[in-house]
Amino acid sequence: MKHYRIAAIPADGIGPEVIAAGLQALEALARRDGGFRLEVESFDWGSDYYRKHGAMMPEDGTERLKAFDAIFFGAVGAPDVPDHITLWGLRLPICQGFDQYANVRPTKILPGIRSPLAGVGPGDLDWVIVRENSEGEYAGCGGRAHRGLPEEVGTEVAIFTRVGVTRIMRYAFRLAQARPRKLLTVVTKSNAQRHGMVMWDEIAAEVAREFPDVTWDKMLVDAMTVRMTLKPKSLDTIVATNLHADILSDLAGALAGSLGVAPTANIDPERRFPSMFEPIHGSAFDITGKGIANPIATFWTASQMLEHLGEPAAAARLMAAVEQVTAQGILTPDIGGTATTREVTDAVCEAIRSAN
Ligand code: NAI
Ligand code: MG
Repeated sequence: MKHYRIAAIPADGIGPEVIAAGLQALEALARRDGGFRLEVESFDWGSDYYRKHGAMMPEDGTERLKAFDAIFFGAVGAPDVPDHITLWGLRLPICQGFDQYANVRPTKILPGIRSPLAGVGPGDLDWVIVRENSEGEYAGCGGRAHRGLPEEVGTEVAIFTRVGVTRIMRYAFRLAQARPRKLLTVVTKSNAQRHGMVMWDEIAAEVAREFPDVTWDKMLVDAMTVRMTLKPKSLDTIVATNLHADILSDLAGALAGSLGVAPTANIDPERRFPSMFEPIHGSAFDITGKGIANPIATFWTASQMLEHLGEPAAAARLMAAVEQVTAQGILTPDIGGTATTREVTDAVCEAIRSAN
């Protein structure tokens, strides 16, 4: 029997609630399929760890994660710890340390979930956003001088490399090629940003020649928000920089019904290191401990994890169970229902057990 080692890092806020739900669904799947087993080790890293130890994770944290097949991550963020500390202390060191350069964010309207867009239902919005996840605007390059003085300066330098842009572009074209519509939209801002963004456009055109069967077009990021809102059906696979895709994927999540259903996978396509799977949302301290966090984003990312591990049948079974439950109207309050995290999770586990 195949056997996978999973590192669970629930971390902050609703992270522990949704990761517990995700593990319950994964357990139901492993039991049902019988073809694989998951060995899960949980790590108590995050803001509580920071309050005790002054760091979000131990110094050898990423070293310890190397032994795992995948990382199942909740969320970071606490009201009393600055966001740049929580993010740069845990999530980004894992993404960057493991060179998880492809951040893959599928979005579609699940049955039973209403899009805020009038007249748009399941089938009208089915996208995958590929976000460059290793450089760009989040390279961490910059600095501050003359702190606190009137002449203080702060710089945040976006870094784009030919290697970095080429590899994410190939990943996106390959993904578009694997989807039925074979359609890719490359997003930049190459009118106002005339160096790195123009290089993106040029590299896109070069890589496109390797994929003659993929239809592709270009959009400026501001116009892209309009197209996503007014012509969702005209899009399929989308590739954009770290910052642009971060923003566009929050919009995508909202257009598909809620941030609570949006998943993400931080992938090292070369499989040198474990990849990391997480819901897109943050720690949501406004609903922490209330038992109403939507676990669907976490189920969906668990499905991405199974796909990556080489268990496509279990991955599909999990998504089918999720869609069955949303279609039945068993929904948490963020998507208009009254169900709790536990009720949705139990329903999904039951759907897994009873599926043919
Ligand atoms: P957030 O994603 O935590 O919450 C935004 C809104 O969506 C809130 O009203 C929340 O209740 C709702 N929401 C989010 N996930 C939900 C779910 N599963 N079920 C139901 N409702 C859900 O973003 P916010 O409030 O801007 O940030 C809170 C903290 O999370 C901050 O410290 C932020 O830095 C951090 N954060 C961390 C991320 C990560 O770990 N990857 C990503 C985004 C934010
Ligand atoms: Mg974001």
